[in-house]
Amino acid sequence: MAERVVLAYSGGLDTSVGIGWLRDATGKEVVALAVDVGQGGEDMDDIRQRALDCGAVESIVVDAKEEFANDFLMPALKANALYQKRYPLVSALSRPVIAKHLAITAHELGANSVAHGCTGKGNDQVRFEAAVAALAPELTSIAPVRDLALTRDKAIVYAEEHNLPIRQSAKNPYSIDKNVWGRAVETGFLEDPWNAPIEDLYEYTMDPSVAKPADEIVITFSSGIPTAIDGVAVTPLQAVEKLNELAGKHGVGRIDVVEDRLVGIKSREVYEAPAAIALIEAHEALESLTMERDLNRYKRGVEAEWANLVYDGLWYSGLKRALDVFIDDTQRFVSGDIRLKLQGGRATVTGQKSEQSLYDFSLATYDTGDTFDQSLSKGFIEIWSLPSKISARRDLKG
Ligand code: ARG
Repeated sequence: MAERVVLAYSGGLDTSVGIGWLRDATGKEVVALAVDVGQGGEDMDDIRQRALDCGAVESIVVDAKEEFANDFLMPALKANALYQKRYPLVSALSRPVIAKHLAITAHELGANSVAHGCTGKGNDQVRFEAAVAALAPELTSIAPVRDLALTRDKAIVYAEEHNLPIRQSAKNPYSIDKNVWGRAVETGFLEDPWNAPIEDLYEYTMDPSVAKPADEIVITFSSGIPTAIDGVAVTPLQAVEKLNELAGKHGVGRIDVVEDRLVGIKSREVYEAPAAIALIEAHEALESLTMERDLNRYKRGVEAEWANLVYDGLWYSGLKRALDVFIDDTQRFVSGDIRLKLQGGRATVTGQKSEQSLYDFSLATYDTGDTFDQSLSKGFIEIWSLPSKISARRDLKG
């Protein structure tokens, strides 16, 4: 029996041509695996059929939307994960779930390798292969675009020569990756960072400069996870889908950055992630309300480390696992309601309450009812500044 390779299949030009290209170059039978992470657009059944029409011996579709939301997006939300303080890790979060299903399918079907359609210049090749290496070290990874020199021009010629049923997407100048957490757009005229993004680029968000009345919503969290919107119970996936709609309408979550890729290149990226940005804004506020000062401060550093690891393809690593244990522990009391105002591209927290709140009115107030004994501050500051005072005496001497 011929050896088999499981290809992460998107239905696009590169991975469709990749099926025949892989088979011709390696002699392996190609199994196509399309993972639904809420990318929307085409019917997954059409994608499944297209892989067969392009020469796959088997074609599988996995609905991983709930799993993606529960096991990947919720940890990212608990970590308020933003790479370089801006990018909510849209693509970086989907690669480990796709890689997991590549490894599972390879085991089930007795394949000894997996494949993906990434180029040799991006982060995603690293994420796929590092995840597969961590989950199934016996599998080898093949990247037809990178390793077998499948360029876009060659792909178009191959598709025409072999009469492959692929929509001519060759004219779309952008490279787009999307899932339920957001959308990433690269290349084309965006490669000059001086060129402003145009309205055409966006799909998840409406133009925030078009005036419309604000919407106010209340998100209820339970131990860091959104459980209701305006009092209606939601699953994590439903929360993300609903907020994409509500926040997307106000243009929340448009991001335009020059980003540091793992492979050393700086690249210009345009993202839209309305639910991710609205949820992180709300979650972070609730943490400030319910978490003690040192823990809150320390966690912000852990969050940056977590985002770096995930960006760098180390989802399945010891350090990331250990940080998850820490982060999970911090979420114990992160329960309550956050009111958000959505307008003009922003999600602004306008109200916060929690039964676990550490906010104490009688300590904070400047009005009557103050229970804070201000006379204690004098002695506190005396001792607090003692090290500064002692060293200053020495430093100022000579
Ligand atoms: N730069 C982002 C990342 O590394 C997005 C990559 C998206 N991929 C794409 N084909 N547009 O996570």
